[in-house]
Amino acid sequence: MLMKQAAARIAPLTGLAQEEVLKLMEVPPQETMGDVAFPCFVLARTLKKAPAVIAGDVAAALQGEGIDAEAAGPYVNIRFDRDVYAADMLEELGSESFGKLQLGQGERVVIDMSSPNIAKPFGIGHLRSTVIGAALYRLYNEAGYTSVSVNHLGDWGTQFGKQIAAYKRWGSEQALQADPIRNSLELYVRFHDEAEKDPTLEIEARDWFRRLEQGDEEAKQLWSFFVNVSMQEFNRMYKRLNVTFDHTLGESFYNDKMGAVVEELQAKGLLEESDGALVVRLDEENMPPCLIIKKDGTTIYPTRDLATAIYRHHVMKADRLVYVVGGEQKLHFNQVFTVLSKMGHEWATTCEHIPFGLMRFEGRKMSTRRGKVVFLQEVLDEAAARALQIIQEKNPNLEQPELVAEAVGVGAIVFGDLRNNRLNDVDFSLEDAVSFEGETGPYVQYTHARIQSVLAKAAETGTYDSSAAQEGTSNSSGIVGDTSWSLLKLLCDYPAYLERAVLRSEPSVIAKYTIDVAQAFNRFYHAERIADAAPQVKSFRVKLAKYTAERLACNLSLLGVQAPERM
Ligand code: ARG
Repeated sequence: MLMKQAAARIAPLTGLAQEEVLKLMEVPPQETMGDVAFPCFVLARTLKKAPAVIAGDVAAALQGEGIDAEAAGPYVNIRFDRDVYAADMLEELGSESFGKLQLGQGERVVIDMSSPNIAKPFGIGHLRSTVIGAALYRLYNEAGYTSVSVNHLGDWGTQFGKQIAAYKRWGSEQALQADPIRNSLELYVRFHDEAEKDPTLEIEARDWFRRLEQGDEEAKQLWSFFVNVSMQEFNRMYKRLNVTFDHTLGESFYNDKMGAVVEELQAKGLLEESDGALVVRLDEENMPPCLIIKKDGTTIYPTRDLATAIYRHHVMKADRLVYVVGGEQKLHFNQVFTVLSKMGHEWATTCEHIPFGLMRFEGRKMSTRRGKVVFLQEVLDEAAARALQIIQEKNPNLEQPELVAEAVGVGAIVFGDLRNNRLNDVDFSLEDAVSFEGETGPYVQYTHARIQSVLAKAAETGTYDSSAAQEGTSNSSGIVGDTSWSLLKLLCDYPAYLERAVLRSEPSVIAKYTIDVAQAFNRFYHAERIADAAPQVKSFRVKLAKYTAERLACNLSLLGVQAPERM
């Protein structure tokens, strides 16, 4: 808001359009230098003067009417009269339309997210895809897009042949029902161990998968049993993470849609034989060939993704297709998108892989083969247990401590993930993530709860007239202290952060901003009195606290984290 104000006043002095000025504006490296800065380099050529001379002229012309301008070399540093501007800024924060962007103009973005594999553990990679995807879903909506989420379950592939073969040999319904993923995993691990000694197992597995692809009753029944029990377990997790999907369509959904893709590839002369398999060559693009049909005649992961993309574009009417999937699948998506474009689908350019880095959990990695895996459920349980411990120490009288602990524990995991640039590899430390201090979810939640009690106390110690805040700030000075001014400016900057987060598909922009807001509030809270300040001052500060709490709660909810009223 301040930048806009400054740009409006600078533009006529320079011959530049207001928009151009706005783009050039900066925030000075130190707050003491001013609120905003305007660099004069670009004007040197047209005005035929040195930037520093121009800065001097502009500063002199700007001075006055609530602005204090000063040239510092080629920059004009501008300071606003807080007592003049604070009221407008507060009003803007309170307006209905604040923070709503129209970047997307209703464009439909189909988001491929979560997408765990049936009969395998829900891994940390799937957790990242789920929380990053869910955050993007809400951020895109907030910015004027229409988000559509799809859980692209890994429910097809030769591994189901192995799963059925192993189940037939050593499995039981009761064991699988009791602990689906763990039991599936045990069977899977046992299959691989025993197959090293007994090669007939592999043959058996291939046979079962072929039967499955051909629609054999028994194979299909076992398969849907596996899908159902896995889904029950995944759904428990989604509930805890508070994530829902507009569509859950596994890879198997595309079984009857791949024939058309293969025919289209054939008709367009893109399929070539290679070692008995059918591939699309991508030599010109410097990529290995994209495998379409395996030697044994079965389809494969990329074939299903081709059919999926076509379906999402045509049937789901996607304007944009994004895939929130780990960086290790970069080549796969490159290949799929390139094949789509070779097929002549111009909309291939609307497909985007949104990768993220690896996450280790206290140094442990994921591996489903050897059975050494981290189960997300255990991670969430552990986080909630630790949160409960901290809460009971800090606030032994809190009502429903388990509920709050669940919100804090799960929130710690979600926030702890989202605060990292998504491309970074993360070594996740539970202890750090659950801490109430530092750049954590619980720190933000705690700040939010603290504001609630400040507001409650302020209401007790006398009513305040909310309209007095505006009057008060415009005709008296000294109401807006340094820390409240910094906080107020930061709150007004929210739309710029939202825009950046959306344009980069980067929830960490919002997570980091949220921490900055919480820190700015705590500085304000320690430096300036709220509940027992003089009436006009109190009114302003209470409002500021209230908008801060609303910002924190809104941002947490965009990220998928709850904001308990008390902690
Ligand atoms: N199920 C896959 C895996 O766990 C992820 C699927 C991602 N989405 C897609 N359309 N390929 O690796």
